[in-house]
Order: sequence, then structure tokens, then C-alpha cells
Amino acid sequence: MRTLKSRLVAGLVLVLFYLTLLPFVVHGFGMIGIGLSENASRQSYLFADDARVGNAAMMLHIGAGTVLVALVPLQLIRAVRLRFNRFHRMLGAVLIALALVTGLAGMTYIPLRGTIGGPVMSAAFFLYGLCLFTSALMLARMARVRNRAGHWAWGLRLFWLALGSWLYRVHYTLWYLLTGGVGSEPDFSGPFDLVQNFAFFVPYLLMVQIWILRKRSAHQAAWTTGL
Ligand code: HEM
Repeated sequence: MRTLKSRLVAGLVLVLFYLTLLPFVVHGFGMIGIGLSENASRQSYLFADDARVGNAAMMLHIGAGTVLVALVPLQLIRAVRLRFNRFHRMLGAVLIALALVTGLAGMTYIPLRGTIGGPVMSAAFFLYGLCLFTSALMLARMARVRNRAGHWAWGLRLFWLALGSWLYRVHYTLWYLLTGGVGSEPDFSGPFDLVQNFAFFVPYLLMVQIWILRKRSAHQAAWTTGL
């Protein structure tokens, strides 16, 4: 009964997640469409005339990032992991590749074109890209050397980082619904914007780290007893 209840809750969370993700996915693919159009620079500030590398990096970034966010929750579903281990491994490899491409393309775009919010946003987003890229590399390494503790810890970090861009939009949506956008400016220079540059990934990474430190011994015991 309890299992059924927890499964129902997990299912509901997943449905809610995909419902909130839908507008984001539509927006992402819409931006790629704009990037591929003749007059991309007139439709979005993300694209510029005669900036082929920056434009291509942004389209690659949005494409890989959107698929990454859409697929990453599947990796944490326990039943899928236990019953379809091969699928778990294949999806893991795909997610690592997507995270590497998303991070690398974003980190290529920033020095070329900057960001709408200026130097603080550029530095914060670059740091976010670096964290995502490093976590993907470390997760691949841990899987390769069959380090279960490392795989678990880096997998959790990568999961929350992959959700970062979705969390960024969720924070903004909730803030605008609650306050009408106090402290947020169109050029992202308000106090809320400055905090948000880091608040969509740094606190989550810290919470994951605390979780890892608290649960590590229990996990290690389960691994050594084979549970
Ligand atoms: C994890 C999944 C990610 C997804 C789905 C994603 C998606 C997007 C989308 C849809 C945009 C266009 C925003 C708009 O239309 O205004 C964008 C912009 C951008 N992203 Fe990402 N992104 C992700 C991760 C990252 C990472 C890791 C970095 C850091 C390297 C990053 C850096 C940027 C930058 C610099 C911009 C342009 C910001 C601006 O000036 O408006 N993103 N991203």
C-alpha cells in the first residue's frame, strides 16, 4: 500500500514536471527555428548577423539543453533503473553527451557574445556551465571505473545541474506571480536578477552535498551487503 502511495506521488510529481516543462520546450524549439531563419537577428537578441559560430553555438546549446532537461528525470526512476538496466546505461551515456554539449556550447557563446545581464550574469552562467561539464565528465569516469559511491554522488549533482535552467524559469515564474516582479529589471540588473544568477544552481548543489554527506554511510552499507 505504501509503495503504491509513493509510486502515485512520484507519478504525480513527474506529470507536474512535464506540464511545467512543456512551455519551456516549445520556447526552446521556437528559438532554434528563429536561429535557422533568414532574419534571426531581427527576431532575437541571441543571434547576430555575421556571427556564425555564436549563432550555431546557441542553437546547439538550446537543442541539447532542452532534450537534456526533458530526459534527465527518467534516469532517477528507481523501477526503470532496476528493471531496465541496459536502458539506464544507454540513457546515462546520452545524458552525459548532452550535458557536455550543452555546457560547452554555452561556454563558447558567453565569451563570444556575452549575456543580456552583463558581466555578473556571464560569470555566473559560465560557472554553471563549468559545473555541468565537470559533473558530466566525473560521472562518466565514475561509471567507467565502477565506483558506485562516486557514481551516485556525481549522478545526483548532474541531475540538479541539468534541471538548473528549468529551475531558473520556475523561480522567475513564481516570483512574478507572487510579487509582480519586484527587484527584477528588463535588462536583468535588479537585485532579484543578481541573486538569481547564482540561486538556480548554487543552493541546490549545497543541498545535494549535505544530502550526500548524510546518506553516504547508509548507501555504502547497502552496497557492501548487496541490498
Ligand atoms: C541544462 C539545460 C539548459 C537548457 C535547456 C538551456 C536553454 C536555454 C535557452 C532556451 C536559452 C534561450 C533563452 C531565451 O530565449 O531568452 C538559453 C540561453 C542561454 N544559456 Fe542556456 N540552457 C541550459 C543550460 C545552460 C548552461 C549549462 C549554460 C552555461 C554555459 C547556459 C548558458 C546560456 C547563455 C549564456 C544563454 C544566453 C543568455 C542571454 O543572454 O539571454 N545554459 N539557454
